[in-house]
Parts: sequence; structure tokens; C-alpha cells
Amino acid sequence: MAKLIYSAIASLDGYVEDEQGKFDWAAPDDEVFAFINDLERPIGTYLYGRRMYETMVFWEAVSTGGAQSAAMRDFAEIWRGAEKIVYSRTLQRPSSARTRIEHDFDPRAITRLKESAAHDIAVGGATLAGQAIAAGLVDECHLFLTPIVVGGGKRALPDKVRAQLELLSERRFRSGVVHLHYGVCL
Ligand SMILES: NC(=O)c1ccc[n+]([C@@H]2O[C@H](COP(=O)([O-])OP(=O)(O)OC[C@H]3O[C@@H](n4cnc5c(N)ncnc54)[C@H](OP(=O)(O)O)[C@@H]3O)[C@@H](O)[C@H]2O)c1
Repeated sequence: MAKLIYSAIASLDGYVEDEQGKFDWAAPDDEVFAFINDLERPIGTYLYGRRMYETMVFWEAVSTGGAQSAAMRDFAEIWRGAEKIVYSRTLQRPSSARTRIEHDFDPRAITRLKESAAHDIAVGGATLAGQAIAAGLVDECHLFLTPIVVGGGKRALPDKVRAQLELLSERRFRSGVVHLHYGVCL
């Protein structure tokens, strides 16, 4: 059975974007990026909310020539190699390969996908991931806490959901980012 994994880079006060919709403060340096790449490498399918997809589709076209860092080139190749399912009621067509659109997030379809998938599945975009967490579908969370307090914005974790977590591992990076890897026990 494949695992469904939620990863987010958040401020210390738990936001993935600030009240201005900015998240430039969350950009990983090469050390964090290389670590993330190793987490992403085994992922077979990404489930994206439409907003996160619009951010991530950058990786479809980015040059993998010398202009990017080695970690960025590595991530672009990982991203292009994976399947993507984008959840949206407004988007008609994907703008990347290996991508399909779903107009509804059906927890039963995700359970079937977990049962049949050969590789783990990632869910991204706090709004979509919040629905997956609330439905009890998320098995693990990777939170990268960035040393900044932004005071408001979009929360990494959903309101009105209670879940017991088990800390599986942690790591401290030179930039002050802390990685917390949790198992979710609902
Ligand atoms: N901290 C970081 O490192 C980082 C990195 C990248 C991005 N970000 C930020 O995080 C934001 C993530 O976005 P988000 O949490 O606002 O949203 P999201 O989950 O990525 O996308 C929300 C959209 O997904 C679609 N959707 C959600 N639930 C659905 C359902 N049940 N059925 C069908 N479609 C559904 C809807 O699209 P439609 O409106 O099309 O129907 C909805 O507007 C990005 O926009 C970016 O600003 C942060």
C-alpha cells in the first residue's frame, strides 16, 4: 500500500504564504533543496490543488542547463518524471505532461489509488492537503519550519482537525530551517 505524504515549507508560526500571498521567504537553499530532492525521488504521483500546481508547473519548462543549481536541475527531472493529478473546478487543461485534471476530490478514489500505486503519493497545496488530512488519508507529514514569523496568511495545517502525530525524525539545517518528519495516527 502506497503512503500519502504531505510536505510543506512553513514559517515558524505555521503559514505557507503570508497575508500578501508571498512565500519568497520559504525558498530553500541548496542544502535544504538537496534534502527535499531525496524525499521526493520515490514519489510516483503528485496530487495538487490548482494553486500549488500553478506554482509547481514552472518545473516543466525550466532549463536544466548550467543556469540552475544542481539541486534545481535534479528537482526538475524528478518532477517531470512523476505523474500529476490536479484538482480544480476551473482548470480545463493541464500545461504539463503526465498530468490530468480532476474536478472533485473524492477520498474513496484516493484510497483506491493508495491501494494500487506502486510508489508513494504526495499531496500539495495546503487547501487540498487539509481535505486529505481531514479525511484521514495522509500517512506522513514533512514540515520544514523556516526561521521567520509572518503573522498571518495561509495555514500549513487545517483548522478543526485533531490528529495525534508521531515524530519519526528531525534535522537541523545551516540556514536555521528545521525538518520535522511525522507519522499521522488518526
Ligand atoms: N511555502 C512554500 O514553500 C510554498 C510553495 C509553493 C506555493 N506556496 C503557496 O501556497 C499556495 C498553495 O495554495 P492553497 O493552499 O491556497 O491551495 P491549493 O490547495 O494548492 O489550491 C486550491 C485550489 O484547488 C482546487 N481545489 C481545492 N479543493 C478542491 C476540491 N475538493 N475539488 C476540486 N478542486 C479543489 C480549487 O481550484 P479551482 O479554484 O481551480 O477550483 C482551489 O481553489 C500557493 O498558491 C502558493 O502561494 C507556498
